[in-house]
Amino acid sequence: MVNERGLHTAIILSLALCFGFMTVKNKKILFEYPDYWPVPQYDFSKLTMTQEEFNLGRVLFYDPILSKDNSISCASCHTQATGFTHIDHDLSHGIKGRIGKRNALSLVNMAWNTSFMWDGGVNHIELQALAPITDANEMDETLANVVEKLKSSENYNSLFSKVHSDGEITGQRTLLALTQFVVMFNSYNSKYDKYIRKELENTFTSQEKNGLQIFRQHCATCHTEPLFTNNQFENNGLKVDTTLNDYGRYFITNNPKDSLKFKVPSLRNIQFTKPYMHDGRYESLQEVINHYTSEVQPSQTLSKKLEKRIVLTHEEKIDLLVFLRTLSDEEFLFDKRFSFPFQ
Ligand code: HEC
Ligand code: HEC
Repeated sequence: MVNERGLHTAIILSLALCFGFMTVKNKKILFEYPDYWPVPQYDFSKLTMTQEEFNLGRVLFYDPILSKDNSISCASCHTQATGFTHIDHDLSHGIKGRIGKRNALSLVNMAWNTSFMWDGGVNHIELQALAPITDANEMDETLANVVEKLKSSENYNSLFSKVHSDGEITGQRTLLALTQFVVMFNSYNSKYDKYIRKELENTFTSQEKNGLQIFRQHCATCHTEPLFTNNQFENNGLKVDTTLNDYGRYFITNNPKDSLKFKVPSLRNIQFTKPYMHDGRYESLQEVINHYTSEVQPSQTLSKKLEKRIVLTHEEKIDLLVFLRTLSDEEFLFDKRFSFPFQ
């Protein structure tokens, strides 16, 4: 472990020397991102950023103790190798096989999010974990009960004492530790990133270059580089699923102008995060691209950006698809810091 971590730091440091990486200063563990990225939304001054707290968050994230019947962990629905999402199901599955109403979101570059969930119903990452813990279709537990369970575990007593000198286990500290872990999920080493940074041996093929151009022309106003989201809510013209009747952002604001608007999701690691859209209706990126070229539904709230039909030839669609695959970041998907904590 120590060696791996040392090696990782060495790689990051050498990258930092060559290309300029930002770190959040005066903190004990490094939160790094490329210096040409925007400043994170998350206010790090309140996070302690110690290795011990990160470790506690990591153990909690992988522990089914957070669910009522101790069967489901955060990682059950957010699996690292698939960009911290769940690929087996279109709608998420919680305890006792209960089916939720939406597809799990991929967890990536969370420190830049201005809101959370497909409808932006949660506005702060520190409160975010409360939603799945208490949702009847997900973990169906109460925070008070989680705290009781953690208190009766020797391992958690020891882990919490390493973070807090009084060793007290509280709900707020539990949520903060989960935040500390999840907020570190930064992905910036895809082929696309290396191409942008002009790192040697990572030039784009002519197909990838063409795909990037098509992407910038038709997709980037919403899926804006470098995070591949503009953090806005948009209606991208999906046909309403009349079983789910999910009107997205409207449920939060009650404003008819928000009807059918959903958060623009990041497209990082999109090759691995299927199925796609808030209800997981598309199994492949080909289907997604066909949606944008031929299936966009007109409606009162359809984004102006999609009112004019996008026309792409068969070759252009393939180039776009090939470009989307350059957003895969294997270093992130297999980063040992984020994997199951063997003890
Ligand atoms: C049963 C499956 C399930 C479990 C368990 C689960 N999640 Fe989620 N998660 C989801 C779904 C589905 C969404 C999207 C929900 C929505 O938009 O309504 C989501 C969304 C999120 C988001 C918002 C991401 C964004 O970009 O807006 C975060 C953060 C998150 N989950 C973290 C966690 C943490 C931490 C845990 C453990 C405490 C957890 N999840 C447990 C299914 C799950
Ligand atoms: C008007 C803004 C807008 C434009 C333009 C746009 N998208 Fe999207 N995209 C969205 C929104 C909003 C969603 C989520 C919709 C939902 O699930 O209801 C989305 C979802 C996606 C998803 C699924 C992501 C996931 O995690 O499930 C992919 C892939 C995608 N878009 C690719 C593209 C491509 C490729 C283009 C260009 C051809 C494009 N988008 C243009 C707004 C946009």
